[in-house]
Amino acid sequence: MPRLSPRLLLHARKLDPLLCLLIRPCRDIASARNELRWLKEHAIATVRSDGIERTAVGWRTLLSRYCEERARGKPLQYILGNQPFGEVEILCRPGVLIPRHETEACVMHLANNVLEKENADREIKILDLCTGTGCIPLLMHSMLSKKFLQLKIFGVDISAKAIRLSNDNLEWNIRQGYLDPVAREQIRFIEADVFAESFYERLKAEAESATNSWDFIISNPPYISPKGFDRDTSASVRNYEPRLALVPERSIRRSTEQGNEDDLVGDLFYPRLYEIADKVHARGVLFEVGDLDQASRAARVACESPAWTRVEIWKDFPDLDLDIIDQSTPMLNVAGTQIVLRGQGNGRAVYCRR
Ligand SMILES: C[S@@+](CC[C@H](N)C(=O)[O-])C[C@H]1O[C@@H](n2cnc3c(N)ncnc32)[C@H](O)[C@@H]1O
Repeated sequence: MPRLSPRLLLHARKLDPLLCLLIRPCRDIASARNELRWLKEHAIATVRSDGIERTAVGWRTLLSRYCEERARGKPLQYILGNQPFGEVEILCRPGVLIPRHETEACVMHLANNVLEKENADREIKILDLCTGTGCIPLLMHSMLSKKFLQLKIFGVDISAKAIRLSNDNLEWNIRQGYLDPVAREQIRFIEADVFAESFYERLKAEAESATNSWDFIISNPPYISPKGFDRDTSASVRNYEPRLALVPERSIRRSTEQGNEDDLVGDLFYPRLYEIADKVHARGVLFEVGDLDQASRAARVACESPAWTRVEIWKDFPDLDLDIIDQSTPMLNVAGTQIVLRGQGNGRAVYCRR
């Protein structure tokens, strides 16, 4: 990343010393001004709330503290406490990954596919593995409940902190009117390890169902290799976001025993996710990946299996389709199969249908 010019820093300082702190994470004056406005609104609202009023901290003191935290790289969402995600609002807390725009774009694209192709009278069952804040189940519910009366959406995560936050997010969005109260019965969050042998039994028991079948599996699993984490992530991500959400830690020991390369450690969740999809007879899956190379490796598993008849790679913005000049659909050769590359940006997800 290029260093900020002293002239820009000086200019920001002359406008407002707090802008000079915010210019470091924001990189330009317009974005820094926006952040300053949001942080000021947040500081004023926080001071007005009961708890802080008693400690007699003024909003200006609080605003300076927030700006210093931003200058040290603390993510804005951990300071403001939330992040918009489609039509829902996701509460964010340290220890649980902040939802990303690319995830939001792919999940909305999938929801629109389901809205378009599935009959309204059937029950739609969705499993979100590695759910974090619960952003994916909540967004799917907010979109699908407009058409489907019968929904069952489960979010699974190994982290107790993530499951607590997912449940808080469910309640928060119902109270704010972003989700229909029926979501309380239709969404459930479960603390579990997707690699556990008892995983299927647990799922079946929680679903209170005789059959362990689910229509769609969505997952944004940890997919960064340990070297990639040190080399490619920003200091803000490394210092403030949970490593467990990004690097497949629990599987590392298993892979090292088998002598795998570091880069492949990042791929460790995908075989397990396909295995779960087979076991629960999923009709469609959407797995998030880090880039086009990882997308090709994850798609290869599906191309080599007769179970999946349609395999696509979705980019960051799968809705932004076809180049206007070249109307042909871009394709990629994966294991001898030509598969569709949808949208624009970096390779972001693998989508498969039976
Ligand atoms: C990349 S984050 C995704 C969070 C959320 N779905 C999103 O898109 O913002 C991955 C999540 O996987 C969870 N996780 C890591 N290992 C897991 C495992 N073995 N079983 C279940 N969840 C796991 C982490 O706690 C983390 O919340």
